[in-house]
Amino acid sequence: MLQIKHVTRRFGAKAAVDHASFTVEGASFVGVIGRSGAGKSTLLRMINRLTEASEGEILFEGRNILALQGAEKRAWQSQCAMIFQQFNLVPRMDVASNVLHGILNRRSTLATMFNVWPQADILRALSILDRLGISEQAPKRAEALSGGQQQRVAIARALMQDPKIILADEPIASLDPMNAQVVMDTLRRIHDEDGRMILANLHTLDTARRYCDRVIGMREGRIVFDGKPEQLTTSVARDIYGADDSFNESATSTAIPAETAYAETLLA
Ligand SMILES: Nc1ncnc2c1ncn2[C@@H]1O[C@H](COP(=O)(O)OP(=O)(O)OP(=O)(O)O)[C@@H](O)[C@H]1O
Ligand SMILES: [Mg+2]
Repeated sequence: MLQIKHVTRRFGAKAAVDHASFTVEGASFVGVIGRSGAGKSTLLRMINRLTEASEGEILFEGRNILALQGAEKRAWQSQCAMIFQQFNLVPRMDVASNVLHGILNRRSTLATMFNVWPQADILRALSILDRLGISEQAPKRAEALSGGQQQRVAIARALMQDPKIILADEPIASLDPMNAQVVMDTLRRIHDEDGRMILANLHTLDTARRYCDRVIGMREGRIVFDGKPEQLTTSVARDIYGADDSFNESATSTAIPAETAYAETLLA
């Protein structure tokens, strides 16, 4: 169980995340939505300890995550693998080595320097690539792959860590619709088959509705919606994306406020 209790992160006077609280039980697939700057990435990064919280508590299976230091903090970071919009692979390195780098922090520097890995780890990396349908890409440089394939390599690298949570920050924002679907199907399959908890920041409502068991909506750092995808009605979505206040005005105004246009695109 992951418990987020009144978690806040301030940058100067501004709260990027403002007293966020929610609990995720077991293997849920949770989508986090909200317009740009709502605090989605900051929330995920605090769970992973890439960004320090200013206030609040994060507990996982009862452990106080925000208090972990040194080796314990690194062990936690490997238990909650991050997936990024830009894949964050080493472009000139082969795919199999990129996947093996998921367990980099368990290896000696020398072994890593010479790219020497135990056979059991190599076989595991290859079997994960095979599971994700990209085993034939293993010897190729990561940069030679399509975006969708690269993101699947990033997912394979995350699985190499055998994580308890997968935190995906806009995993499909850089992909065309077909590759986006393959990557989301992959995440959903991992969730269904392995029972892993997944928290994914998503930039379209459709994706959140289609793939998630639960959706959290953020607006200006605050959680303004937390419910099932079917509860995400148009009016709720307008509230999350901030079009509500300006929506009626836009009918009489010559200039359509940017946020209204933005929400309309998402609702289309
Ligand atoms: N390192 C930082 N320094 C200063 N301000 C920051 C920093 N990181 C985030 N912010 C601010 O915090 C707020 C939330 O940012 P965050 O990146 O979490 O939003 P987001 O919902 O992920 O947006 P997007 O959809 O564009 O990725 C924004 O106003 C942003 O400018
Ligand atoms: Mg973000």
